[in-house]
Amino acid sequence: MGGYEVVETDILIIGAGGAGMRAALAALENGSKVVVVSKSVLGKAHTVMAEGGIAASVGNVDSKDNWEVHFSDTIVEGVYLGNWRMAEILAKEAPERVFELERFGAIFDRTPEGKIMQRAFGGHTYRRLCHVGDKTGLEIIRTLEDRTIHRDVKVMDEIYITKLFKSGGAFAGALGLSMREGKFYFFKAKALIVSTGGGGRVYKITSNSWESTGDGLALAYKIGVELQDMEMIQFHPTGMVYPPGVAGLLVTEGVRGEGGILTNIKGERFMLRYSPEKKELDARDVVARSIYYEIQAGRGTEHGGVYLDISHKGADFIKKKLPGMYSQFKEFAGVDITKEKMEVGPTVHYQMGGIRVDPETGATNVEGVFAAGEVASGLHGANRLGGNSLADILVFGKRTGEGASKYAKKAKTRPADEKEIQSAINEAESYIRENGANPNVMIEKLRETMSSKVGIIRNENDLQEALSVIEEMKAQLKDVGVKGTLVYNKGLLACFELSNMLVATEAIVKSAIMRKESRGAHTRSDYPKRSREWLRNIICSIGNDGSMELSTIPLTEMPDNLKKLVKPEVYE
Ligand code: FUM
Repeated sequence: MGGYEVVETDILIIGAGGAGMRAALAALENGSKVVVVSKSVLGKAHTVMAEGGIAASVGNVDSKDNWEVHFSDTIVEGVYLGNWRMAEILAKEAPERVFELERFGAIFDRTPEGKIMQRAFGGHTYRRLCHVGDKTGLEIIRTLEDRTIHRDVKVMDEIYITKLFKSGGAFAGALGLSMREGKFYFFKAKALIVSTGGGGRVYKITSNSWESTGDGLALAYKIGVELQDMEMIQFHPTGMVYPPGVAGLLVTEGVRGEGGILTNIKGERFMLRYSPEKKELDARDVVARSIYYEIQAGRGTEHGGVYLDISHKGADFIKKKLPGMYSQFKEFAGVDITKEKMEVGPTVHYQMGGIRVDPETGATNVEGVFAAGEVASGLHGANRLGGNSLADILVFGKRTGEGASKYAKKAKTRPADEKEIQSAINEAESYIRENGANPNVMIEKLRETMSSKVGIIRNENDLQEALSVIEEMKAQLKDVGVKGTLVYNKGLLACFELSNMLVATEAIVKSAIMRKESRGAHTRSDYPKRSREWLRNIICSIGNDGSMELSTIPLTEMPDNLKKLVKPEVYE
């Protein structure tokens, strides 16, 4: 019998990024006992990769800004697929979450009058992003950790959750392997908050950290949690393209927000053709597609990107406003961005789809399971505005922590089936064997397939080919295995991750096949138009036989008081 230690709590939070930490703080302040589990070392959260700022209409730089304009921008640039209630909550509550973060000790850049500084970002009508140079995500993590981990929260890092458990239809607990100790823990809790971030690592070229393998959404899906709009994958327009070792690494939108200009190999400022008004600061889906078209038309750079230039702003300005970009290019590419152009290209950055949640509380369709942050869906629709993710983790992290806490106060801990726990331990250990198929080889093939077949522009043939690869790999999963022990076994981690990546990719590809239109980040060359019929969410759920089932749900009608804030959608 495999042994394990039991950890009992009110609320278990999986994922120690911004959403998880903000939820932990809210739950703690609402009187719940909280355990936070993280796959990575504490502090190594993907939140730090959102560099350019938090979108909040505090109106410090453009006094006309207000929540109504922020709401409208979020709905319009999300191409009308976003959940109106989530967008309303975000736009109304983001300013207070920013001020609160300042009270917690975050050190923002300042206007000459000493207010929080704001910068322009694509798709935002006004300069709205409250920022800390180009290290805003890092400052959020630093501040929230500082505020939370010294209090009565138990944080256990380097633990990989391998399975979630239900009892009587509701959440009962989670099994995790401590990679440091090579030992299993069973987390018994009344409520679970999934805040594991996205799954960008299922693509080859991505800005995402190694941790972003879609674990949370796959684990939740396996116990019946519904996923939504998984086809909506955001390609950030600007990632590094060279040298190969850092291809995909984020080049913050802050560069364009501070005046950076995109040109092709012929020196043309091509955004003037694609988006004469907004140019480099159009929404991400538009700018990413424009760069893609330039490269496809043979006007790309030597390393397959386009140029991004900010050198006209001068060295002092660049080093002050974009210190991270300055050192990133200097150290990794030997490029001095105060004098030279950067080479950049689209990189997978964010999943708009994910776990379907209740806008008010973050609750899912499975009792006791909640979700917040990138792993949750609804707010961003078909395209996320830059800076709305950092606002999202603060606003919905807090709400979800409160929602789970309220639920946990009334709920009881449920007993998980001992046999099921033992079988989950056996399943996890069974990956350690002689002559197993190499999980990393399969992961690389999967990532190549997603990048080549499920990219910025999609079509039925490519999507079907990707699906065949995924189906083949699902059948091979039983043969996967690695040598060694349970302690710090990166190969074993790859086995677990592969199983989750296959759920995430199956959901992305099947949903992309189902959505027969082009909307936001989902562009199909065989269905180039947007269709009113597709104002629907695509839901992926697990069927009784374990297979993935897809269905659609129409969007809920926006109330009239909000409708009048938004320019109506126009169809060709
Ligand atoms: O470009 C950036 O700094 C990324 C920000 C975001 O994704 O919100």
